[in-house]
Amino acid sequence: MARKEVTLLLFLVLLVAAVEAQLHDEPTAAAVGRRRGAKAATAPTHLHFFFHDTVSGKSPTAVRVVSPPASSPSPVFGMVNVMDDPLTEGPEQGSAPVGRAQGLYMGSDQAKIGFLQAMNLVFTAGDYNGSTLALLGRNCPLDAVRELPVVGGTGAFRFARGYALLRTHWLDFATGDATVEYDVYVTD
Ligand SMILES: *[C@@H]1O[C@H](CO)[C@@H](O)[C@H](O)[C@H]1NC(C)=O
Repeated sequence: MARKEVTLLLFLVLLVAAVEAQLHDEPTAAAVGRRRGAKAATAPTHLHFFFHDTVSGKSPTAVRVVSPPASSPSPVFGMVNVMDDPLTEGPEQGSAPVGRAQGLYMGSDQAKIGFLQAMNLVFTAGDYNGSTLALLGRNCPLDAVRELPVVGGTGAFRFARGYALLRTHWLDFATGDATVEYDVYVTD
C-alpha cells in the first residue's frame, strides 16, 4: 500500500470512530425528553376553591390562642390563631365541601397586618380526597393578591411543589370573618 493510501485509510478510520462516538454521546430528542421528565412539560394542576375563616359567633372555625401583647406595634403582631376552616367549591358557606384548611396564622409583621400562615389543605372530596397539600408563607390579608408557596404534599400530591394565590372574596371588618378565593397551582 502506498503511503498516501495508508494515510487516507487512517483518516477514514478516525472519521468513522469520531462520528460513532458522537452518535453515542449526543442524546436523541427522546432521551432528552425522558431526562427532563414527561411531567415537567405538562401544565400544573389548578385547584380552585373558597376558604371560610370564621372567628366570630358560637362555633368559630379559627380561634385566637395567643393575643398580641399590649405593646404590639401592629394590631396583630404576636397574635396566633389556630384554624380548621372549611373549603368549598363555591363562595357560599353552604356550597359543596372540598376539604379543610388546618393550621395556624400568626401576626409576624410589625408594620402592617401580615401573617406567617402554615397549614395543610386536607381534601375530603373528588379526585384528591385523602390527599393533602402543605402551605407555608406570608399572608397580608389586606393585599389584593397574596402568594403562598406549596412546600409539599401527600397522597396524590407526593413531591408536590407550587404556589397558591389568595384573593379576599368577602370580609367583615367588624368581626374579621372572611371568605377567600384560592387558586392553587401544583406540579410534581
Ligand atoms: C372520601 O374518602 C373517604 C375515605 O375513603 C370516604 O369515606 C368518603 O366517602 C370520601 N368522600 C367523598 C365525598 O367522596
